[in-house]
Amino acid sequence: MDENPSDSPPDDAPDDTPAPDEIPSPSDENPDPSSEIELHDLPDNSGLRLIGAAEGEEDRVDRSLRPSRLDEFVGQAAVKEALDIAISAAQERREPLDHALFYGPPGLGKTTLARIISAEMGVSLRTTSGPALARAGDLAAILNSLQEHDVLFIDEVHRIPRGIEEVLYPAMEDFALDIMMGKGPGARPLRLTLKPFTLIAATTRYALLSSPLRDRFGVVHRLDFYSASELKGLVLRNAAKLNVQITDDGADTLARRSRGTPRIANRLLRRVRDYAQVRADGVITSPVCGDALRQLQIDELGLDERDRELLRAIAERFGGGPVGLDTLSASIAEETDTVMDVYEPFLLQLGFLERTPRGRIATAAAYAHLGLDRDAPATTRSLFRSDD
Ligand SMILES: Nc1ncnc2c1ncn2[C@@H]1O[C@H](COP(=O)(O)OP(=O)(O)OP(=O)(O)O)[C@@H](O)[C@H]1O
Ligand SMILES: [Mg+2]
Repeated sequence: MDENPSDSPPDDAPDDTPAPDEIPSPSDENPDPSSEIELHDLPDNSGLRLIGAAEGEEDRVDRSLRPSRLDEFVGQAAVKEALDIAISAAQERREPLDHALFYGPPGLGKTTLARIISAEMGVSLRTTSGPALARAGDLAAILNSLQEHDVLFIDEVHRIPRGIEEVLYPAMEDFALDIMMGKGPGARPLRLTLKPFTLIAATTRYALLSSPLRDRFGVVHRLDFYSASELKGLVLRNAAKLNVQITDDGADTLARRSRGTPRIANRLLRRVRDYAQVRADGVITSPVCGDALRQLQIDELGLDERDRELLRAIAERFGGGPVGLDTLSASIAEETDTVMDVYEPFLLQLGFLERTPRGRIATAAAYAHLGLDRDAPATTRSLFRSDD
């Protein structure tokens, strides 16, 4: 079955590694984010402690509900179809899948897709993340350990230091590692061959990726928020998995308040299940769901207290905006990254927020939702239209 294609690279590269006692641990002090990989940076395959680092608390809690095959993945029809075709074609050609990049707000299924792809391709998945890659040697070691057609998943790929990112260029393009033998004037470049593999990368910040990196992905997909009907399907299926009774209306209400995000739908389902068990007769109906979410301070659009606080801050403290991201984040005691990645995408989607070159603006729809009078904050209204 498994014929050996004549153009496959030799498998002897790892044998060039020096004795294990010369190998520094990946966690050495003073990481030097240099793109030069030295031969002694390439350890045996056992020192791969970084792999697995990207799996968060949420993933563990959510494991029972995570789809493991493409046909269980709800929504994102265009992405699914494209992947289905790419996977079948790669399998027919006995090639690894093209390198793929997924981007979009948190909780929409980027990590899940990476897992699904490796399962559909029938290969192993190795996981790491941008912040975990402190040295070029760490990344080189991981790449060097991959088996034929394996999937390497790099989460938060926008956080790989630039010097280390350069290790990926020849790896992605030619399945090669360019390393330096020795140090100083006598150093010589050497190219090591890697086994053909697939890189899958995920980011919430597409704009922060360098163009050399972006250009090396054959497949780039943006994940969008899910529709209420897609999430309703997800809720009904996962309720069955969790053995929870839910009515059609109950699933509909829950789906509509999940911010278009499967992770949130799953989280709310568990919370509402608790509520139904303790305060109702265990069945999640629409009114039970409404009561539970009211108690969690989640409104009919799925906004929670923090979302509303952000909008109120713009409306009340900054006269509706524009207000700079840093100022806004500081005013609600939140990290700017969290504001940009977690809060804003959905508020933008709802049309409650606008990003302008001069800062964030709360829209009329946001005022209406909060029940605020748009003409009331008179202090900084002149900022709105200072250009004309
Ligand atoms: N399309 C989907 N169908 C079914 N379940 C999904 C889907 N997308 C996501 N999920 C569920 O939501 C959870 C969160 O998804 P995932 O961890 O893949 O999001 P992510 O995009 O990687 O988020 P982050 O940016 O925070 O890493 C998954 O564990 C899974 O249970
Ligand atoms: Mg993820």
